[in-house]
Order: sequence, then structure tokens, then C-alpha cells
Amino acid sequence: QSNKVEVVVFSAPSYACKRRTTLKNHNTLLTEALSILAESAELNEDEGRGVAFRRAAAVLKCLPKAVSSMEQLRGLPCLGDHSMRVIKDILENGASSEAESTKQSERFKALKVLTGIFGVGAKTADRWFREGIHSLSQLQESGHTLNQAQQAGLQFYDDINLPVSKTEADAISEIVEKAVHAVLPGAEITLTGGFRRGKLTGHDVDFLITHPEEGKEEGLMPKVVSWLESQGFLLYQKTTRNSYLESKDGPGRPASNMDRFERCLSIFKLTKDRCVGQKQGTKQSATPIESHVKTVCSLGDPTQAKGEGNSESLTGSCQKTEPNPQSHPHPLSQIHPSNLTLNVLGQEKSLDVDQAQTSGHKPWRAVRVDLVVSPVSQFAFALLGWTGSKLFERELRRWAGHEKAMSLSSHALYDNKQSRYLRASSEEEIFAHLGLEYIPPTERNA
Ligand code: GTP
Ligand code: MN
Ligand code: MN
Repeated sequence: QSNKVEVVVFSAPSYACKRRTTLKNHNTLLTEALSILAESAELNEDEGRGVAFRRAAAVLKCLPKAVSSMEQLRGLPCLGDHSMRVIKDILENGASSEAESTKQSERFKALKVLTGIFGVGAKTADRWFREGIHSLSQLQESGHTLNQAQQAGLQFYDDINLPVSKTEADAISEIVEKAVHAVLPGAEITLTGGFRRGKLTGHDVDFLITHPEEGKEEGLMPKVVSWLESQGFLLYQKTTRNSYLESKDGPGRPASNMDRFERCLSIFKLTKDRCVGQKQGTKQSATPIESHVKTVCSLGDPTQAKGEGNSESLTGSCQKTEPNPQSHPHPLSQIHPSNLTLNVLGQEKSLDVDQAQTSGHKPWRAVRVDLVVSPVSQFAFALLGWTGSKLFERELRRWAGHEKAMSLSSHALYDNKQSRYLRASSEEEIFAHLGLEYIPPTERNA
């Protein structure tokens, strides 16, 4: 009998769009460190370096087991010298000193806080940082004029930096469906982004809207937005019209990754509605949407807690209830307590009174929502493009361009050799055009 230990040597295709990446990650220690370095590179606007670390992290995410030695990695693509050093450090010392010191650096911490403001990107955050603005209170004291998005971003900072649960995403879906159907019966709404990939939380909720009859979807977004506004669901919105046909660079060859669909970046007001025994005359029979509008949850008042869960556990703040589809079909029953302090990378930041309205024991929370409207002829491309992950999308486009001489966008697929567009009415057809095995959304978590 041999006492030799067999070493599992991993292998994987170098394009993330050829790999199946589920949410089960056996190498979180490695991928989290590499993601920190990717994030830091992105915050320093070093895109190339950012992508390199993202690719390295992604290849480790698809492995069937935890990496235990460097020799297991010799068959893997996308792992450059730098990533290899990071991995070696973690395997030998339990942590990456570079990732740790990055996380603790003043610059990284400050840029994270500042880009946590909706409407603030790496460029703006860097400019502010160099002016000595490292915190939200310093930003407020600086007297900088903020645009509308940034003002909303600051006002709802706490909520927007609190993950959105699937339960909350489902509640938002109901509202969006109600809005869309009110203004265009027959329109179809699809949840995209991370939730379509099976994630249990997200930083926002993404929707794609279309109508089976081409052209019927035109002008839909302003109507949906008006309806949502009239019902008090929107805290902020910015709609950009479809500019696809006007663009000079032509379909399939967008100037950037940004597409040209009619698109609305918004912040929803989602009422935390856990109360079954309701007050203010709201009927028990109210539909979820109606009760969503009308019900005021009486927080901190134990007399109002009847009928919902165990009232003993009421602590004067919102009671967190587990969603139970059997007895409580209401999708809005889960509550996220939010605090007056932000915890950004373990560093507590207290917000001043201006932001207090968005925190503490209010009966609602702010949620980032992205709405996109697509003509049905482009729906499959839009669905594929908006489902993500971001790296998976990038890799699909790279595969198309480098290996197939095709240009893929969220609007179309152009074959440069045949000089024609390739039609598709499903994601499966697009993968087939690209000569790729079909990868379902839950396996696109690269
Ligand atoms: P979380 O929201 O953090 O859960 O992750 P997510 O994967 O849903 O990310 P996000 O909402 O940022 O983006 C969802 C998908 O939309 C990703 O695949 C992005 O690449 C894509 N996306 C975001 N912005 C744009 C855009 O302007 N144009 C196009 N075509 N796609 C975009
Ligand atoms: Mn998303
Ligand atoms: Mn989004």
C-alpha cells in the first residue's frame, strides 16, 4: 500500500462564460481577498488590474473543493503572479497581508464610504478624498453641491447600503407588476440581475419589461414612473430614454457597455408591513399592494403585535419575522431593523440628524430598483445582458469578439464575418449562436 497522497489538480476553461459557477463557493477566503484587491484597483480606476483580480477570483469560485496547496493550481487559467502570491500567503498564513492592509487603509475605507453614496463613482470619491473629505459628515460640512442622485444617496445612505432580501425583492416585484399592468395590460415583467441568478440578497432589484407585441412598449417608462409616483412608491428616479436608434456607433457595437434602453434608476419606498392586526382602519382583506400603501405599521407598540408571530419577542423596535408562506402569505412581512449607525467595514459612523429620518424605527425602507424596457425583438439579448454577473457578461462579450468575430450587446448579436445580425428569441439561441454550451442563470455567478 502506498502512503502517497493523491493531489487533486484543478482545471477550468479560461472564459468564465464556459464555466458553471453556482453560489456554492468552496474558496471564500481566497476569493474575498482577491475581490478586495479588485475593488481597490477599481476604486483607483485601474480597470485592467481590477479585471485581472476579478478573473482570478472567478476561477476559484467554480472549483469543486477548497484549494489546499499551490500545486493544485498549476492547471488553472487566469491566475497571474500577483494573484498567486495572494493565494500562497493565505494558504501559508491564513490571510493575505496585502488584502488586510488594503482593507485597513484610510484611502480604501474612505473611498468605500463615499462610493456607498448612490450617484458617487470612483472619480468623484477620489477627488473628494484628495480634498480631505473622508467621511459623510466631512462631505456635508464641505459645502459641496451634490446633484439630485447624490442628495438622495446621502439621504437614504443607511437603507441603500443594507442588503435587499429576496422577500423584499418579491414585494417590489408585486408593486412593479401592478404599476406596469395598470398602464399597459399584457406587458411582461422579468426579475433580472443577481436575484435571477438565485442570490438571496442584492444591492438592488433589477427588472426587464417588454410587451409581446413589438412597439407596444414604446413610451412605457414615463407612464410606469408616473403611476409609481402617484402612489407614493418613489423616493427618487431618473429616467433615460431609449437612444439606440439615434446612436451613431450602430447596433451591436455600443460605444461602451452602457446600453441604450429606456431605463430608470430609482429608489423605492418599501413599507415594512408585518402587522396582521392592523390599525387606522385598514381592512384585513386588503391586497398586498393596497395594504402596502395604506397600512402604517405601529412599531414599538406591543398592543399592535397581535396575530403576528410571538409578541413576547417585541423589543420596542421592529420585530423581525421569518417569512412563512403558509400562514403569512404577505410578501412584506420581513423587517430589517436599521440603526442610527452605519457599519462600514467594521468602522462605526454615526449619522447626523439630517439622515435620521432614513434610519431608526421608521415603518419603511429605501430600496434601489433598476427598471429597463426592451422591445420584444431584443428581449433575449437584454435578458442575457441584465442577468449578469458582470464578469460573466464581460467574458461573453470577450468570447464573442475574440473567438467568434461577433459583437454582443444587450440589444443584438452581430456576426462580423457574415456582416449580419443573428436573431434570437431566447438566451439558449444566443449561446448556440456563440458556439457555447447553455449556462443557466444560477450557474452564471462568476
Ligand atoms: P447585486 O445587485 O449586487 O445583487 O448584483 P447584480 O449582479 O444584480 O448587479 P447589478 O444590479 O449592478 O447589475 C445587474 C446586471 O445588469 C449586470 O449583469 C450588469 O452587467 C448589468 N448592467 C448594469 N448596468 C448596465 C448598463 O448600463 N447596461 C447594460 N447593458 N447592463 C448593465
Ligand atoms: Mn442587481
Ligand atoms: Mn442594477
